[in-house]
Amino acid sequence: MITLTRRYEFPASHRLYSKQLSDADNDRIYGKCNNPYGHGHNYVVDVSVRGPVDARTGLAVNLAELDRYVRERVVEPFGHRNLNEDVDDFNALVPTTENLGVVVERRLREAWPWSEPRLEKIRIAETDRNIFEIVSHETERQ
Ligand code: NI
Repeated sequence: MITLTRRYEFPASHRLYSKQLSDADNDRIYGKCNNPYGHGHNYVVDVSVRGPVDARTGLAVNLAELDRYVRERVVEPFGHRNLNEDVDDFNALVPTTENLGVVVERRLREAWPWSEPRLEKIRIAETDRNIFEIVSHETERQ
């Protein structure tokens, strides 16, 4: 068994604001990220898959197929969007990178078309210093 990680990137903008909090609490908790006009990030998503190496091809994954799948499920729907306004997943969800990571992992896992390799985990980086990880075999039971 081998784990392979493939990196994807997309730019998107967001504003951190919760309808469940007062304006004062939004300000206090989110600070500059609560700016009404939002701000952008170049998100980096590392998708890790795990499976056996095929004896004939020497490969664990068809990268062209994986790329097409991740593009359809994540890069196209989220890239160059305002996550608050353009993405239905965030109608009732604050688009923190925690929540974005959860949504990205769920979108990949729910329609995962292969029995092998399996989706192992995703990591999503908002900046070089903020990196979040969602492990699929921990989330699939929830
Ligand atoms: Ni931000």
